[in-house]
Amino acid sequence: MKHLVVFTGAGVSAESGISTFRDSDGLWENYSVQQVAHIDSWHTNKALMLDFYNQRRKQLQQVEPNEAHLILAELEQHFKVSIITQNVDNLHERAGSSTVIHLHGELTKACNERKTEVIDIAYGDINLGDKASDGSQLRPFIVWFGEQVPMFDKAIDIVQTADILLVIGTSLQVYPAASLINYTDAPIYLIDPKPEPRKGVTIIQAKASEGMRQFFREQVGKLTS
Ligand code: APR
Repeated sequence: MKHLVVFTGAGVSAESGISTFRDSDGLWENYSVQQVAHIDSWHTNKALMLDFYNQRRKQLQQVEPNEAHLILAELEQHFKVSIITQNVDNLHERAGSSTVIHLHGELTKACNERKTEVIDIAYGDINLGDKASDGSQLRPFIVWFGEQVPMFDKAIDIVQTADILLVIGTSLQVYPAASLINYTDAPIYLIDPKPEPRKGVTIIQAKASEGMRQFFREQVGKLTS
């Protein structure tokens, strides 16, 4: 089977009802992205950060994978599929995708301050005073601005083995994640309703679900013709 590597951003979950980061004037659920996604905010206002991510976790419990997530899972019948996502939701997994790398962490996990201990918390809250086994305050297992991206090297290895790279719903503005597309010579497809033109990239200008229907028809059609 050919290796289809899929790199997703917030846009793939937009039709599930989770808002993107940069589609509403730099605000994420009414907060500036910097305010709720920077390590400095954790040091200065843990209560706000915990509350914000507790809300995101509750919201995640109430939404469902959309057609784009489901088609990606179905593509495993035809390709070896590896998904690298910038999203902290679990909608790819809930749709049935078997290989999902989270570059920016996962909402349903918590960790200690040093990120050496990671625990599953599903949709539960993290409260001020909840301690990890080393005595530090538990925090969301999220990669905030100003932090290392530990899964990046693994993601590069995966991208380097791609036969096709499919990018869905990301503004490609946040590094190092955005640089992943430079690590392959394979054909690159980009599904986005408002894409930035990019040299050497085949653009499918559409929302994720519609774009995925088209991608599926074309690519699976090629395999069976
Ligand atoms: N289907 C597909 N794409 C969509 C849809 C949709 N229905 N709606 C919006 N988009 C596109 C937008 O046009 C935009 O290009 O999704 C992209 C979302 O971009 P961002 O909000 O910047 O999200 P993303 O690229 O995932 O952000 C990267 O930034 O704040 C950090 O860590 C956070 O992982 C996040 C990273």
